[in-house]
Amino acid sequence: MEKSVIFWALVVTAFVLLLSIFSLGNAMKVYIKSDTFKQKVNKIKENNTLKTLLLLLAFVATSTGTFAQDAAPAVEEASFYTSTKIYILLAIDLALVAFLVYYRTFFNKLIHIDKKEEDEAPVQEFVKERASKLTQILTDTVPVEEEESILMDHEYDGIQELDNNLPPWWIYGFYLSIIAGVLYLLNYHVFKISPLQEEAYQTEVKEAKIAVDLYLKEQALNVDENSVTVLTDDVDISKGRMLFNQYCIACHKEGGGGDVGPNLTDDYWIHGGTINDVFKTIKYGAQNGMKSWKDELNPVQMQQVASYIKSLRGTNPPNAKEPQGDLYVEEGTAEAETTEEAAVEVADTLNVE
Ligand code: HEC
Repeated sequence: MEKSVIFWALVVTAFVLLLSIFSLGNAMKVYIKSDTFKQKVNKIKENNTLKTLLLLLAFVATSTGTFAQDAAPAVEEASFYTSTKIYILLAIDLALVAFLVYYRTFFNKLIHIDKKEEDEAPVQEFVKERASKLTQILTDTVPVEEEESILMDHEYDGIQELDNNLPPWWIYGFYLSIIAGVLYLLNYHVFKISPLQEEAYQTEVKEAKIAVDLYLKEQALNVDENSVTVLTDDVDISKGRMLFNQYCIACHKEGGGGDVGPNLTDDYWIHGGTINDVFKTIKYGAQNGMKSWKDELNPVQMQQVASYIKSLRGTNPPNAKEPQGDLYVEEGTAEAETTEEAAVEVADTLNVE
C-alpha cells in the first residue's frame, strides 16, 4: 500500500483517539462534579482506594495534556512519509489505544466506586458465560450434561463414540472453499478474466524485456565524451555515414577529405584523434566554423558519426586536404610506426614546400 495512505490513516486514527480521550476526560470531569459521585464518595468513608483514585485522577489529567502535546508535533512535522515516521505514528496510536482502554476502565471504576470487591464476581460469571457461548457457537458441541443423547451404539472395550456435529467454523470454511473453487473456475477457465499462470508469466517476461530494452537504450543514450567507444557494427557505421552525408559533407566533403573543415581521414588532428576527442569536437564544436552538434544529434548519433569518421582513417579520398594539427598515433596498432614515419615524411615535404 502507498506509504502516504498508511501515514494519513494513522494520523486520523491518532486524532480520533485523542478526541475520544478528551471527550472521555470531559465526561469524567462532569461526572466527578456531579452530586451522584459526591454521594458515592461520601458513602465510602476512610477508604484508601479513593485516595489512590484521586491520585490517579491527577496523573490522568496531566498526562492527557502531555499526550496531546506529544502527538501534535509528530503530525505537523510529517512532510514526507518515511517508514520511521510510520512506525513512530503506529507506536503513538498504540499508546493512545492503551491509554484509552486504561482511561475507560478507570472511569468505570469511578462509576462503581461504591461497589465492593465481591460485586466483581457476577462480572466474572458473565464473562465466563459469554466465553462458553462463543465456544458453543464455534464448535457446536453438546454440553457434557446432555452427551447421553448423542452417544453412539457401538462400544469397544468401554470406548464409546459421540456423534458430534462438525464444528461450524470448519463447515463454513468448507463452504467457502467450494465457493472459491467455483469462482476460480469461472474466472480462469470459463470467462478467462484473469490470465493463467503460463500467460501471466509470458506477460511478465514481455514487460521485463521492454524494461530491459528501455534501460539499455537509456544507457546507450548516456554515452558522453568519457564513456564513448568506437562502434564497429556495420549498421552503426552506415548510420554514421548517412548522418555525415546529411550534416557534415558541406565542409568536410564526402568521404571526409576536407574542404572548409579539415581532412578527417589522415592522422593529423587539431583537436585530438581519439574517439573521445572526436566525439567531443562534434558535441561541443570548435572555432573557425565547426559548430556544436549536440542539439541536432543525440549522443548515440554522435557516437555513430564519430565512429564513421574513425573508420575513414587512411582511406585517402581524392583531392584530400593537407594535414592540419598534430600527429595522432593510433594506440595499439601495428602500423602505428609506419604511419608515423609516413606522416613525418609528409610533414617534411610540406615544410620543404
Ligand atoms: C560549417 C562547416 C562545418 C560543418 C557543417 C561541419 N564541420 Fe566539422 N569542422 C569545421 C571546421 C572549420 C573545423 C576545424 C575547426 C578548427 O580549426 O578548430 C572542423 C573540425 C572538425 C573536427 C575536428 C578535426 C580535427 O582535426 O581535430 C571534427 C571531428 C569534425 N569537424 C566533425 C564534423 C562532423 C561530424 C560534422 C557533421 C555532424 C561536421 N564536422 C560539420 C567545419 C564544419
